[in-house]
Amino acid sequence: MCGIVGYVGGREVVALLIEGLRRLEYRGYDSAGVVVRGPEGLIASKAEGKLDRLVDKLEREPLTGSFGLGHTRWATHGAPNERNAHPVLDARRRVAVIHNGIIENFLQLKTELIAAGWEFETDTDTEVVANLISSLYDGDDLRGAVDAARKRFEGMYAFAVMATRREEIVATRQGPPLVVGLGEAENFLASDPAALLTYTRDVIFLDNAELALLTPRGVEIWDAQGHPVERAAQRLNWDPIQVEKGGYKHFMLKEIHEQPQALQDTFGGRVDFELARVEFDDIGFEGSLGESEVRRVHLLACGTSLHAALVGKFLIEELARIPVEVDYGSEYRYRDPIVEPATLAVGVSQSGETADTLSAMGAARERGASLLAICNVANSQATRISDGVILTHAGPEIGVASTKAFTTQLVALFLLAVRLRQARGMETAAEELAALAHLPQAIDETLALEPKIDQLARRFFRAEDFLYLGRGINYPIALEGALKLKEISYIHAEGYTAGEMKHGPIALIDEDLPVVMVASGDRVYDKVISNMQEVKARDGIVIAVTDHDAEELAGVADEVIQVPRIHRLLQPIVNVVPLQLLAYFTGVRRGADVDQPRNLAKSVTVE
Ligand code: M6R
Repeated sequence: MCGIVGYVGGREVVALLIEGLRRLEYRGYDSAGVVVRGPEGLIASKAEGKLDRLVDKLEREPLTGSFGLGHTRWATHGAPNERNAHPVLDARRRVAVIHNGIIENFLQLKTELIAAGWEFETDTDTEVVANLISSLYDGDDLRGAVDAARKRFEGMYAFAVMATRREEIVATRQGPPLVVGLGEAENFLASDPAALLTYTRDVIFLDNAELALLTPRGVEIWDAQGHPVERAAQRLNWDPIQVEKGGYKHFMLKEIHEQPQALQDTFGGRVDFELARVEFDDIGFEGSLGESEVRRVHLLACGTSLHAALVGKFLIEELARIPVEVDYGSEYRYRDPIVEPATLAVGVSQSGETADTLSAMGAARERGASLLAICNVANSQATRISDGVILTHAGPEIGVASTKAFTTQLVALFLLAVRLRQARGMETAAEELAALAHLPQAIDETLALEPKIDQLARRFFRAEDFLYLGRGINYPIALEGALKLKEISYIHAEGYTAGEMKHGPIALIDEDLPVVMVASGDRVYDKVISNMQEVKARDGIVIAVTDHDAEELAGVADEVIQVPRIHRLLQPIVNVVPLQLLAYFTGVRRGADVDQPRNLAKSVTVE
């Protein structure tokens, strides 16, 4: 969604804000802007499009001043143009606001403010925030004005406000994240710690409904009732290097290559390989529902994380013999789900911020489920509302297309499945856990296929459509391959279970259609080969991803990507890697902005 950054202190503020926005640009990139306190009041500079447009503008028309706010936008209300870019100033130019989220009752508030004589220049809901705060601001107590105004807002939002009188920033959140960074005679605010890492690793994550006041001298926080909150800072162990491209052309490629280490980090320290047991010291969902009592699992997620959840269903049902339902976060609460006693609802989310997933988790909780989050971002909202958490430890994922977050989610779901199996007193999953130890090596070997996949992209990047087919536990991998290609290259791609091909998609097949088929050595391998024959019989182009000997498919597939074989339940983690690379190289060859694809944002914090 949108990226927020704020600074109070003695540094050159505009450069600092721009550097922070660079780290947050993945959250939204429709427009960007900064505001500082200048000699004659608040001065803002904004530009439509990517951050570089703002940087160019600031080079032509430099801005100087002290303390300030910066914003990078993913448009919700109002077109993504300069007029609607943030920061948004109130009609009297007394306060400046940057905002992430949606004020759902903005129309009603706007009508009231217009009736009271306030003028509006933008189409944003943010301007309601600015004008309402300004209408309540006596020129002295900004915190009081923000506190009073936020009580009128409905929706999910995080915003930060500054005025000219004092060097201070006031910020609050209800839903989307805000983190305060602590420095010496300076303090920072951001929607994501990635923006702060160059300056500080000592941070405080704001809770919902808290309000923070930042000055160079310190940070004060109050809860919804106005009581002061004492919370010690925590030290982030993220390395600033992790949010750099590290020699790669794009974050996406870097993150694809980080997978062997990321997967190792997901299971490292959590598996006793000698005893063939999964030991989580940090899961702790016993609070409301003992692991051995779990009788049903609901997996709730969106996008790529939903595809991980679909694989998770196979893992949990097969390893722990517990029935699993998988739901889109955006659908779950609207279908009045049946939550039986002893249901564990698991929110799967890289960011832990996705509004739809959070709402679904809330709906499961209301109906009596215990909540577990499988999440990459510690302290995110998903982790805070859950009884237990399995952090995926993938490290920061900056590329908008999820790659290492996906494969680490699969490992986390595998660990959960084994853990539930153990809790039920079933036989140890010795073979599966032994295979897990080889997974990073298998991914390393798969990455060595990169030149071949680049060549494949060269052959097919002009195609207008792609079909992805898989079966069983590899069906969600077909969905994920198609999603990656769509996101990164804007080529229309569909994922289907191979068995469904004959019920409709077969009509699409002709000599121009590349069909990517995941043909793993599991129980449906032979069936997938039959499906390949059906594609070939209709002149389709078959690109096979297989752990079988490439020779076996020589007569039936046009192109074969042979990946290392691992245990059947872990094979999807290997199989998805060539599909990530295919999407990446296809996107690059088509000249697409693979790290920041059009219309997307890394985390979608609105419904
Ligand atoms: O942060 P989350 O995992 O909750 O995000 C869910 C989806 O928005 C996300 O996976 C999205 O589909 C990605 N762009 C996929 O690459």
